[in-house]
Amino acid sequence: MDIPELQLREAYWDDPAAKAAFGALLREVFGIDFSLWDRAGFWDDDYRPFTLFDRDGRAVSSVCLYSMRVVVGGRLCRVGQLSGVATRPEWRRRGLAMRLAGHALARSAEFGHPFQYLFADDHAVPLYQRLGFAPVAEYLTSIELSSRRAPIAGARRLDPESPDDVRLVHRLACERAPVSLEFSALNERLVLYYALVALRDAFWFVEPLGVVVAARRVDHVLKVYDIIGREIPALDEVYPYLADPMDRQVQLYFAPDQMGDLARLGMSTQRPFLGNNLHVRGSFPLTAPVSFPITAQA
Ligand SMILES: CC(C)(COP(=O)(O)OP(=O)(O)OC[C@H]1O[C@@H](n2cnc3c(N)ncnc32)[C@H](O)[C@@H]1OP(=O)(O)O)[C@@H](O)C(=O)NCCC(=O)NCCS
Repeated sequence: MDIPELQLREAYWDDPAAKAAFGALLREVFGIDFSLWDRAGFWDDDYRPFTLFDRDGRAVSSVCLYSMRVVVGGRLCRVGQLSGVATRPEWRRRGLAMRLAGHALARSAEFGHPFQYLFADDHAVPLYQRLGFAPVAEYLTSIELSSRRAPIAGARRLDPESPDDVRLVHRLACERAPVSLEFSALNERLVLYYALVALRDAFWFVEPLGVVVAARRVDHVLKVYDIIGREIPALDEVYPYLADPMDRQVQLYFAPDQMGDLARLGMSTQRPFLGNNLHVRGSFPLTAPVSFPITAQA
């Protein structure tokens, strides 16, 4: 639907007023604030907005296409992620998000992305399914620890306020090996969003192994979201640095193909989890149980 008072703009990050209007829309609709990430210098031009502005310069509806460098099924390529999909309440159900997503998907095809993915809020699922996205189950790997252990020294929590720590995460994220060859993202700027904003209390440096681990402990379960370094250690090498004697389980939020023999820590299982509502459109090559690391989620 064409609404004459609305102006469509794409890739306008060089216009501070438009960028601020985009930020205001996302703050109002999702309550998220990108400014810390932006001020730290990690804003990413590959995160490409398609936005409708009203005559007062307010962003009323927006969709972002994030061109992501990923490893999928052992192959390095770029794929498209849709995110930041939002329409102001008074403008909803007039086809705006649909129209913007259409533009974003056309651009994604021009960029040669073999597929697009997104994480859907429940009420947005019909919109995405109309656009050709289909749900894909993700698999959580859980390891029941066969023995309790005290941590060995060598890990420290990183401080998002420390420029040295931020530089360390950035360097390792630039040099990183894929945490999984099934699926992982190689996107240092997005890693920094998690280190500075969304998981700012959950980044650890394991110095003896030269890796940063994004992990959080909840109810005696160590949830590991990503491991960032030039080489990916086996889980039984890295876990002892992060261990707590009360731990009963470790959960991996990525496919465990680079994690060595999990049986050295305990019995492992993989079960589908639907919490992220992963949807994919296009030729998605994977048949193995997969999980998209949180640091692949814009
Ligand atoms: C989801 C959202 C972006 C949709 O924006 P919108 O501009 O209203 O979407 P559209 O008008 O283009 O919707 C196109 C179609 O999608 C489906 N759809 C959209 N919103 C829907 C809803 N709330 N419930 C069911 N179907 C919906 C419908 O099929 C709709 O067509 P119809 O109105 O002819 O029935 C908007 O509701 C929003 O900002 N929600 C809050 C933020 C959010 O959840 N974003 C998605 C995060 S993954």
